[in-house]
Amino acid sequence: MSAIETSQVHLHIGGFQLKNVTLSIPSEKITAIVGPNGSGKSTLLQTMTRLLVPDQGEVLVQDKPLPQYKTMEFAKTVALMTQSKHTIPNLTVGELVAYGRSPYKRLFDHSNQEDKDIVQWAMEVTHTLRHENRMFHTLSGGEQQKARLAMALAQKTNIILLDEPTTFLDIAHQLDVMEMLVKINQAYRMTIIMVLHDLQQAANYCHYLVAMKKGEIQKTGNPKEVITAEFLKDIYQIEAKVRLEDEDYVNIMPLRKL
Ligand SMILES: Nc1ncnc2c1ncn2[C@@H]1O[C@H](COP(=O)(O)OP(=O)(O)OP(=O)(O)O)[C@@H](O)[C@H]1O
Ligand SMILES: [Mg+2]
Repeated sequence: MSAIETSQVHLHIGGFQLKNVTLSIPSEKITAIVGPNGSGKSTLLQTMTRLLVPDQGEVLVQDKPLPQYKTMEFAKTVALMTQSKHTIPNLTVGELVAYGRSPYKRLFDHSNQEDKDIVQWAMEVTHTLRHENRMFHTLSGGEQQKARLAMALAQKTNIILLDEPTTFLDIAHQLDVMEMLVKINQAYRMTIIMVLHDLQQAANYCHYLVAMKKGEIQKTGNPKEVITAEFLKDIYQIEAKVRLEDEDYVNIMPLRKL
């Protein structure tokens, strides 16, 4: 089953267009969306999460067209961590992560034990528990990124979309987040769809790759097969060496801009 399918999606926004986007994102796998700055990756995520409505075409989530979802039902199915760098005033990390539970709140049922346990779990897996009582805006960029990830995880959805989850993180924390996402994908069979700029991470941690350029899908498939020197030339206009090391590790060495 596909987690998300798009069929001939067209969308105009300002001077930009998503053109004829037809995709099938596999369920219970990790998918990377890659492509140059301004190629439409974040716009695509927004059309998949009802923040933008296509001019033409259809988006299905778990085989159901987006317009058929009720707001709370959708929030229990799909979580989105945006690329937004806006700071969030006057909230502690614990309060922010607890917002992830909003879709499950009932009248007169402010915080049940299950909500508390899930918020605790989300902070533990993202290693943000030590910041629980800190004000969000006082955290470093990387710490904020992890707290926002915890909030998305606390939504406990089948599908999670992450727009550049490793931006702002040092190399150790990047690996930490990627390994955490692999564990979550395996343990909970959560479908993870993320925008990544690091192609080496896309190749080595993701099962499926979607490459965009100028609002169109250029290529999809197994990242280890898709990411070649030719592909890097086509998508990014760079010369690079791509080597498969130790049988299974893709090593990408950018050489120069063409
Ligand atoms: N609300 C808007 N009004 C006008 N133009 C927009 C709007 N939203 C996006 N765009 C334009 O659409 C294009 C695609 O934007 P998008 O944010 O999807 O790119 P992206 O692939 O996520 O890039 P990046 O890697 O830099 O995050 C960009 O040129 C952007 O300026
Ligand atoms: Mg973006």
